[in-house]
Amino acid sequence: MELVVEGLRKRFGENILAVDGVSFRVAPGEFLVLLGPSGCGKTTTLRCVAGFEEPEGGRILINGVPVTDPGRGVLVPPERRNLGMVFQSYAIWPHMTVFENVAYGLAVKRRPREEIRQKVREKLALVGLQGMDDRPATNLSGGQMQRVALARSLTTEPGILLLDEPLSNLDAKLRSTLRFELKEIQRKTGVTALYVTHDQAEAVVLGDRIAVMNHGRIMQLADPSAIYNCPVNRFVAEFTGATNFLRGRLDRLEGGEAVVRLAGGLEVRCAAPAAAAPGGEVELSLRPENLFVEPAGGPDGGRPNLWPAQVAKVDFLGTHSLYQVKVGEETLTVVEMGSWCRHRAGASVRLHAPSERVSLLQEA
Ligand SMILES: Nc1ncnc2c1ncn2[C@@H]1O[C@H](COP(=O)(O)OP(=O)(O)OP(=O)(O)O)[C@@H](O)[C@H]1O
Ligand SMILES: [Mg+2]
Repeated sequence: MELVVEGLRKRFGENILAVDGVSFRVAPGEFLVLLGPSGCGKTTTLRCVAGFEEPEGGRILINGVPVTDPGRGVLVPPERRNLGMVFQSYAIWPHMTVFENVAYGLAVKRRPREEIRQKVREKLALVGLQGMDDRPATNLSGGQMQRVALARSLTTEPGILLLDEPLSNLDAKLRSTLRFELKEIQRKTGVTALYVTHDQAEAVVLGDRIAVMNHGRIMQLADPSAIYNCPVNRFVAEFTGATNFLRGRLDRLEGGEAVVRLAGGLEVRCAAPAAAAPGGEVELSLRPENLFVEPAGGPDGGRPNLWPAQVAKVDFLGTHSLYQVKVGEETLTVVEMGSWCRHRAGASVRLHAPSERVSLLQEA
């Protein structure tokens, strides 16, 4: 099913504008992640979609039908939206068995016993809990409880699955394996998914697209690679991973690229966003793993953004090394993958920043 959210606005009391004009579309079978820091309005957006909150403004449509439209007094109750939901707290019933928990939605709908048995079996197998039917729910690990919650949310075969940080109470290792499983389950069922998290690694693995939120607004909505490689502003760049920021003046546009001059005189080339106009102060984001330390000397191959530099500090971390590299007046962090480090502190080197990997940020 398709989910459309248009200009959603939700206020709590006088002062808190929790959701401030949020719009997005989740295509049928798509996995959209809302990613952002605590308090940015992710849960409130999800609760509006679920029908637990009534917004002041905007509309929510499921398969083209308005389910929330305050302008017209439309507020379809949650149980009539054909949704499945999984939350951070396990929210499964401790006095019931695994089977009874998963069967609940169908039992409420008074489906025939045989159908319930078959669907529960099918969903338990899907989440990897086959044969656990008779276990009391209290007797399960955190990961197993979330599998039960997921199976339960899927038994009624909802068109849209809403998930609010379902993995955040689990330990790190389980969290990262369940991520991949969850994605696989969503693919198999073809359910449209809206998933809330503040964990960027989770967002990257799960999302077909990611909406990065801050202060009740969407800062950027794009596929994971575009979010990570072409962040539109400082907030998105910083929230989605480690990066180096450089400030300068947009000096000129040349051959489809922008040339930014830093205070120390260094020139940095990067892809030019459509709106780029020379003259203004701009900020650049350079991811540490997209910078390359090379020995001094040797052919430069006519490459732009190849600067004389000096290694100021080296930290060897086993799988990779972290360098602090001085270029002109700037010091940049560089990651070098591999289990031995190729450069020593104090070495004169060159630093290469491939221009297509340098992001020119919009002010925000
Ligand atoms: N019932 C409520 N009454 C008053 N304020 C609320 C209520 N629910 C949320 N808020 C406020 O609205 C803002 C957005 O909250 P929300 O729960 O949507 O954030 P979130 O992005 O889900 O954060 P987290 O990652 O911590 O779960 C916050 O400032 C929060 O304090
Ligand atoms: Mg929340």
